[in-house]
Amino acid sequence: MTEHNFPELKNDLFLRALKGEEVDRPPVWMMRQAGRYLPQYMVLRRKYSFFERVETPELACEITIQPIDELEPDAAIIFSDILTVPQALGIDVQMISGKGPVMGNPIKNEDDAFSILSEDVPEKLNHVMEAITLTRKELNGRVPLIGFAGAPWTLFCYMIQGEGSKNFDKAKSFLYQHPEASRHVMRELTSATIDYLNAQVDAGAQALQIFDSWAGLLSPDDFNEWALPCLMEITAAVKKDVPVILFAKGSWYALERLGFKSGAAALGVDWTIAPEFAREKTRNEITLQGNFDPSHLLAPIKEIEQKTKRMIDRFGTRRYIANLGHGILPHVPVGHARAFVDTVKNYRKN
Ligand code: CP3
Repeated sequence: MTEHNFPELKNDLFLRALKGEEVDRPPVWMMRQAGRYLPQYMVLRRKYSFFERVETPELACEITIQPIDELEPDAAIIFSDILTVPQALGIDVQMISGKGPVMGNPIKNEDDAFSILSEDVPEKLNHVMEAITLTRKELNGRVPLIGFAGAPWTLFCYMIQGEGSKNFDKAKSFLYQHPEASRHVMRELTSATIDYLNAQVDAGAQALQIFDSWAGLLSPDDFNEWALPCLMEITAAVKKDVPVILFAKGSWYALERLGFKSGAAALGVDWTIAPEFAREKTRNEITLQGNFDPSHLLAPIKEIEQKTKRMIDRFGTRRYIANLGHGILPHVPVGHARAFVDTVKNYRKN
């Protein structure tokens, strides 16, 4: 492993909030902050396909820094996708405009499932590591860089269903009909994710987020059986000094277990969860991140400012990272995203 000599970090607010330190105001960033609401992203989107943008380190770096230049949030997240890991495991992924991801060879039966083997994942995804290293240099210490991966359950959903879905019915029926084959896939995904995240840390990622976007499709018992053990294994195996944020969307029912058992430094919460409820379930002992309703960014700016302030009032400034409750929507005006970020940055404890 090469040791990098990165520029010194000038804004450590995000990392301090993750450690639970006292801060004057909470840090802020937005999930999917690099994306279609930014005109400068649209320029590159017209010129290059989605995976060209992901697989070319210079493009991924440029796209990662676009929202930092435009809005100056307190953290950057590397431009990539959670579906890089299924790709490295042999699943063909196309990103179809207006539809989302489509897999050419989804897992259809037990043989397909048992043929999934986690080998050389960091090597196959070396372009992500190159993008991270380059972005760390180009950021020049302005803000920390977040690496990320999808959680095994969410990746399993796409690998079986073969496309996005409201209920991932094929993935769930596969889980119940073929538990042993499913367990094999989860095990391989877990080990691939551990290798992938640790390689991102070696490349320069200063914090990690795990996206379990479809956690809310599972019952509490199924979450315990299928999702939580993978998450626990991953956080335990990630390099010790790097904080992990777990965003398990829709998993309000598991907040307590996630807070006390998952080993994460912080939990992402979506907008269906009241701040007081999340604090009570986690006994105010863990950093929480969220949870502005992404569609509220379409409200008039005055309302965005009021709702953002109220959100911080309710979460408190300590152990808190302001963010959306899920990714920013494509048709949000840039000025509305800026109002959200600026309101957090201007917030002061009375
Ligand atoms: O947050 C960031 O700015 C970093 C980049 C990032 C992307 N995808 C870029 C992207 C991150 C963190 C992701 C994670 C991701 N990808 C998730 C988990 C988060 C979530 O939203 O729940 C999921 C489920 C995916 C899979 C995926 N990728 C879908 C379902 C889609 C299509 C939906 C859409 O928004 O178009 C993508 C495409 C994608 N990934 C885009 C971006 C910027 C849009 C591509 C484009 O049209 O330019």
